[in-house]
Amino acid sequence: MPTETVYGLAADARNDMAVARIFAAKGRPRFNPLIVHLADAETAQRYVVWSDMAQKLADAFWPGPLTLVLPLKPDAGLSPLVTAGLPSLAVRVPAHPLARSLLQRFGGPVAAPSANPSGRISPTKARHVLDGLSGKIEAVLNGGACPVGVESTIVGLTAEPTLLRPGGVAGEQIEAVLGQPLASPAQGAPISAPGQLNSHYAPGAKVRLNVTAPRDGEILLGFGAVDCALNLSATGDLTEAAANLFGHLHALDALDPDGIAISPIPDTGLGRAINDRLRRAAAPR
Ligand code: TXA
Ligand code: MG
Repeated sequence: MPTETVYGLAADARNDMAVARIFAAKGRPRFNPLIVHLADAETAQRYVVWSDMAQKLADAFWPGPLTLVLPLKPDAGLSPLVTAGLPSLAVRVPAHPLARSLLQRFGGPVAAPSANPSGRISPTKARHVLDGLSGKIEAVLNGGACPVGVESTIVGLTAEPTLLRPGGVAGEQIEAVLGQPLASPAQGAPISAPGQLNSHYAPGAKVRLNVTAPRDGEILLGFGAVDCALNLSATGDLTEAAANLFGHLHALDALDPDGIAISPIPDTGLGRAINDRLRRAAAPR
């Protein structure tokens, strides 16, 4: 299903077989828990223990690209594969009109990781989904290009509010609504968000970051007023750059270059999510 961030590989979160098929189709490590998508905040409260902070963030950012990790209700009735055995659950109310109508008609909880083979570039078009998963999935709901283009921001609310993954809502905006800074995940904590796996979002070609002068054979993915093969945003707009990020990486990778060089991207607002994804794309595999 399309969402405003990236396409998701959707299954009934109460159905063990359906959820197991997500992992099989993606070739995904089992320790990586899934986000449950719901039609609205009221439905989310059937599955998680709600709090004042959750209400504040839901009021400000739902429907939209924010995921909240909250304590799982004991009798939630979800497949244990969804949470990978954790006592918490990640919930999100997406804003994409097709996702919303799917969730409203279905009425239940929908587990959905990004619809790409594990570790590869996330899909922001129906075509990307088919390129990676054709033959392993039933169908794609074609909702066009995803407008945000990077995955949701994940905020943990099981202890002090923590930024588990930068994403489509800027951390600064969340801090403004909460009136307090977001903590960083504890170093050496068990892997709880995909950003913590080093190589992720990887194209086939080697990726080099913060490049102003590409090497011979490298193709430049630009940002701002630079001479390049494709530009994330010629005007230096981070929102436009996020929306173009995965699509441009897919397009350059399809040219099979020696390497993909990437212009420096400012590390503020949505730039934090973009740089997070780019560091994973460039990490040794
Ligand atoms: O924008 C998005 O969030 C997209 C669209 C499809 O909604 N989904 C997405 O899902 O990015 P995925 O599976 O690629 O990333 C979700 C990550 C998991 O890898 C996991 O690390 C984290 O959310 N997560 C899920 N449940 C968690 C939990 N209980 N505690 C901490 N992190 C959790
Ligand atoms: Mg993913």
